Amino acid sequence: MNKIKVGILGATGMVGQRFIQLLDGHPWFEITELAASERSAGKNYEDSVGDRWKLETVIPEKVRRLPVKECRPGLDCRIVFSALDADVAGPVEEEFARAGYAVSSNSRNHRMDADVPLLVPEVNEGHLDVIEKQKKKHGNNGFIVTNPNCSTIGLVLGIAPLHQKFTIKKIMVTTMQALSGAGYPGVASLDILDNVIPFIGGEEAKMESETLKILGSLKNGAFVFADMKVSASCNRVHVKDGHMECVSVAFEKKPAPGDIISAWESFNPLKQYSLPFSPPAPIVVMKNEKRPQPRFDREIGKGMTCSVGRLRECPVLDYKFVLLSHNTIRGAAGAAILNAELLNVKGLL
Ligand SMILES: NC(=O)c1ccc[n+]([C@@H]2O[C@H](COP(=O)([O-])OP(=O)(O)OC[C@H]3O[C@@H](n4cnc5c(N)ncnc54)[C@H](OP(=O)(O)O)[C@@H]3O)[C@@H](O)[C@H]2O)c1
Repeated sequence: MNKIKVGILGATGMVGQRFIQLLDGHPWFEITELAASERSAGKNYEDSVGDRWKLETVIPEKVRRLPVKECRPGLDCRIVFSALDADVAGPVEEEFARAGYAVSSNSRNHRMDADVPLLVPEVNEGHLDVIEKQKKKHGNNGFIVTNPNCSTIGLVLGIAPLHQKFTIKKIMVTTMQALSGAGYPGVASLDILDNVIPFIGGEEAKMESETLKILGSLKNGAFVFADMKVSASCNRVHVKDGHMECVSVAFEKKPAPGDIISAWESFNPLKQYSLPFSPPAPIVVMKNEKRPQPRFDREIGKGMTCSVGRLRECPVLDYKFVLLSHNTIRGAAGAAILNAELLNVKGLL
């Protein structure tokens, strides 16, 4: 089978590096193009990224010598994965979509656009129907699909099976977010060692709005947001990878704890498609009351599984629990790859 050619915009950054690592040996996709800012362009990838490569695996052989180009259409690929800095991602992604590329983006710029799916394949596959609008607008096969913010995606995976069965009305969530979520060089060591920073710019608003779009519906070509209230408090903690979240929820009609567990354990909507990046279980329920923990549990399902635990009664809302998801895999590069795999099996590429 001929592989689909893919490019990576922002290939030198934290998320760009994850794309390169995760796409190595992908059965359907092959990296043919790498692009970043003009600071990085004009050299081969290995020389360009230099000691900014921060993953524990080496740069894949096939990618080392690929030239880094500037982020302009003309790249030889069908899909571009965007890991661009949000300061530049908006217009660059639009330019690629207008030029006929499928853009699978991590950046926040187009997530809330009226004709752009904010996709979590297990949750809102039906939102892909809105892509037709973009294709019509561009007069070609170009479009943008986005994945949510890294803390939103864990939350949505944890609550979607419960919302689908029992209707959630209120969510209170407090995050403990990993350092890699801030990109490189990120937070200065003297600010975060022995410390917790109770502010991540824009993060709370993203969790509160993106969740409603993802859990909402698409009616007559327009998004109808979910009818629930979300309150988020976001903190940066001294952990390398893996966002933890303490979640309290109130339901329209309170289910029994066993119903919640079975809703989580039976949740596997993508099973029919056999997508390479779809984990055996999108949600794993941990029985040990000291789990999940970032260091031990973030790699479950190759970083694509959300683990939940400590389900108990909440004296204020109905129930509370803890969840964990890998922020640069399930929350970024892995999410965008899974989105592209779904696009492929749905014939949208
Ligand atoms: N880290 C996470 O956990 C995470 C999770 C979800 C979403 N995101 C989002 O994903 C995106 C990338 O995040 P990151 O953490 O990988 O950031 P990062 O490490 O700072 O990397 C940013 C990338 O954007 C490129 N870039 C910057 N200015 C550019 C310009 N003017 N033209 C072209 N390319 C330019 C950089 O290229 P140079 O190296 O050449 O400067 C680099 O490749 C952001 O929008 C972020 O919000 C991140």
